[in-house]
Amino acid sequence: MKRVLPRRRRFDRAKNIDELAEIARRRLPNFVYEYIHGGADDEVSLANNRAVFDRYRFTPRTLTDVSQRSLTARVLGREIAMPMIIGPTGFNGMITQDGDMKLARAAARQDIPFTLSNASTTSLEEIATVESGWNWMQIYFYRDRDYVEALIERCRAAGYDTLVVTTDSAIYGNREWDARNYARPLVLDTYNKLHTLTRPSWIKDVLYPDGIPTFKNLGDLLPPGDDSVQGAASAIGEHLMPSLSWKEMRWLRERWPGKLLIKGILCVEEARQAVAEGMDGIVLSNHGGRQLDGAVSALEILREVRAAVGDEMTLLLDGGFRRGSDVLKARLLGADAVMLGRATLYGLGAGGEPGVDHALRLLQAELDRNLGLLGCRHLQELNDAFLREGH
Ligand SMILES: Cc1cc2nc3c(=O)[nH]c(=O)nc-3n(C[C@H](O)[C@H](O)[C@H](O)COP(=O)(O)O)c2cc1C
Repeated sequence: MKRVLPRRRRFDRAKNIDELAEIARRRLPNFVYEYIHGGADDEVSLANNRAVFDRYRFTPRTLTDVSQRSLTARVLGREIAMPMIIGPTGFNGMITQDGDMKLARAAARQDIPFTLSNASTTSLEEIATVESGWNWMQIYFYRDRDYVEALIERCRAAGYDTLVVTTDSAIYGNREWDARNYARPLVLDTYNKLHTLTRPSWIKDVLYPDGIPTFKNLGDLLPPGDDSVQGAASAIGEHLMPSLSWKEMRWLRERWPGKLLIKGILCVEEARQAVAEGMDGIVLSNHGGRQLDGAVSALEILREVRAAVGDEMTLLLDGGFRRGSDVLKARLLGADAVMLGRATLYGLGAGGEPGVDHALRLLQAELDRNLGLLGCRHLQELNDAFLREGH
């Protein structure tokens, strides 16, 4: 049941991720919240990413003794505390100061991986200092191979063992809500300027004393000395590579000795090819509904992809995960783990680092409770028989 929250709701009293989103909406300037929350075009894929979970229903067992339960999962040969990974999101420093560090530390505390975006406002070297963190690095592939080469060299030097290459963004999606908030590129319109002034604690946290956060991993791609948002936006635009193909993936595979995951796959044939090309894992994703509107949701094709790639391939997915029961459904349909996008960003927006802790704890508690209610003790017991499709 949806409840209207009291005007001043503390993040740590939020009962679920949607409530954290509502608290984040109240705390953040409109343009920041809409940047996180929105999707492309008519937001059909964005809505479907949530609606799709409802097509599957559990068929639980009772009388199975679920007094002892475990949520541990294996990803890329390593055990993690629960089958969730914080996925890559760019520009987290606009949500709160050092947003990337806050997410990375919360992930480390929960013993799950954190993925740093290529468009992050914290350097990959700084993230690598997070104690006991398992940090992954996401990259886009740009025209400038020297830049890509230098970036993966930086990752290697900083001790990263897992690279995630995003393939669905060689052309920018059309995010109209984002464009609407600006009078001209990167200049807020009057409404948003005034609205931002009504969020003094955000101004103090994010803009004070250094101004708008800058991009720390784009390096040589940017005009010399210009890591500003304007510089980065035009540089990224210029360097994106609409001609991206398997040729570049092979080039990357040859150069990166660590684990290589490909993010943005939504078709069975490409998933098969990822296996054939020696990728270590696949992230099925429609980029949170921010790229091709009308694209299928990852969950819809999960079972088919698992059947095609076999049991050994690491198979992750993202899009719309807001409840522990969503994660259970993904496991039942064949995923090793899921990536969280907005769920942890809402926590970050609602309460900073403790807000991310709270989001992860909510998801963990929901997953644990629902695993027991399903009649299982651990995730390895789950199989197709616990799920029915269609109604
Ligand atoms: C604010 C925001 C920024 C994002 N930035 C990136 C990015 O830099 N690189 C990337 O591969 N995906 C990016 N994504 C996509 C996420 O990694 C992920 O695919 C998506 O958020 C999953 O959907 P969900 O938000 O509904 O969980 C971004 C998503 C959001 C919401």
